[in-house]
Amino acid sequence: MPTLHWRGKEAIIAHVARVPDASLLSDGSHGVADSGNLLVEGDNLIALKALLPDYRGRVKCVYVDPPYNTGSERWVYNDNVNAPAIQRWLAEVMGSASAELDRHDRWLCMMYPRLLLLRELLRDDGVIMISIDDSELHHLRAVMDEVFGESRYFTTLVWRSAGNFDNQARIKHCHEYVLVYAMDPARVAMPPVLDPAVGARSKLRRAAIRNTIVKNGPKNPVSEVLLPAGFPAAVNSARIAAREDRWPRYAQDAHIVHGVLAHEVRVASGWSSKSILQAFIANGFEAVTDSRGQATRFELTASGAIESVKERRHASHVLSVLGDLGSTQAQAAVLAAMGLHFSFPKPLALVEYLLSLFDERDAIVLDCFAGSGTTAHAVMAMNARDGGQRRWLLVEMDGAIARQVTAERLRLAMAGYRDARGAWVAGLGGGFQYCRAER
Ligand SMILES: C[S@@+](CC[C@H](N)C(=O)[O-])C[C@H]1O[C@@H](n2cnc3c(N)ncnc32)[C@H](O)[C@@H]1O
Repeated sequence: MPTLHWRGKEAIIAHVARVPDASLLSDGSHGVADSGNLLVEGDNLIALKALLPDYRGRVKCVYVDPPYNTGSERWVYNDNVNAPAIQRWLAEVMGSASAELDRHDRWLCMMYPRLLLLRELLRDDGVIMISIDDSELHHLRAVMDEVFGESRYFTTLVWRSAGNFDNQARIKHCHEYVLVYAMDPARVAMPPVLDPAVGARSKLRRAAIRNTIVKNGPKNPVSEVLLPAGFPAAVNSARIAAREDRWPRYAQDAHIVHGVLAHEVRVASGWSSKSILQAFIANGFEAVTDSRGQATRFELTASGAIESVKERRHASHVLSVLGDLGSTQAQAAVLAAMGLHFSFPKPLALVEYLLSLFDERDAIVLDCFAGSGTTAHAVMAMNARDGGQRRWLLVEMDGAIARQVTAERLRLAMAGYRDARGAWVAGLGGGFQYCRAER
């Protein structure tokens, strides 16, 4: 497998084994005591190390939104991987050589050991999702393949942000990415989620999936099926005339009475699911299980087609391009109405959607680039909606952000607040402990 090299990589790899042990010092709690939720102030390298003894192999879902390394140092946080704490850390790890690193080297040096620790924290069926844009996507993919293994690559989602792109750029960038790796991709279940653009009347919202099994082509040669009396129908009564001009062919008229076929009838066509149709007939018209474990029935329609009817255990329709999930501008406005100022917070709806893809009601969710705390807010909103017991662990390096933005937002989310239009948003309840990570 090709691997990526950058200046400082050897020094970082040597350093990984020497990351000192660290501890978490409690600095008060908010709301419900013993909620199990933690907001840690400190560099996430130290904080993740401190979390390891209690959380190794226990985190179901990591969502992180690290600095994208756009080069900007003017935002509330430093997006040039040039914050004083990171500079000090790099100088500690590699001495004067740290001055020679460019911003991509610095970003990779920063990410690599943190990804290694995140891997240690994940459950063996855990999932990690990383928001990123074009600045570092290609580097991140290579480093994730190295740290997690190519076989754990799951998908790359594209998030198309809402908002105003009426600017002078030659190409108006309105999307970014979410890179997803699963510790065991085979164990990732069908996400119980519908794309936000799926309309209220879409057939994806129906309790059953219906498809005709009449299918003609070289791979489906014509063959006969004997439908016995009593074969279920989708309508209460109908007459299907004998025919040779349409599929399926009917050798004689068929009559549907009281929702079932009144007498046996021979039909001919190419079929997409003949063996399972015959298993259904042999099973006395009781549902049979298809190759994916889905309960499957069959029905005759008024037009003479035969349809498979599969019970939908839960609706699932996830597209690789995500839209209709808000914008950073709108989320920043919501925070501003709460009296909080933060550059480019992720929309709450986006993070809730992402977490729902790999959800469990008692999952531990971790975000070690917490920013304004959207991930914790999303977890609390999900718990409030379905009574779940999910817990969150957040880490934020910048003390001013951690105290004045993250902690304050989560306190307001728990207690209730006014949105940008002045409407009261009910509190979600819960609580958290505020800690500092120290060596
Ligand atoms: C892009 S923002 C995250 C925004 C967040 N998703 C939200 O919705 O508000 C990245 C955050 O990571 C923090 N950060 C950067 N380096 C860090 C580190 N080494 N340890 C912990 N936090 C760090 C920054 O201070 C910044 O608040």
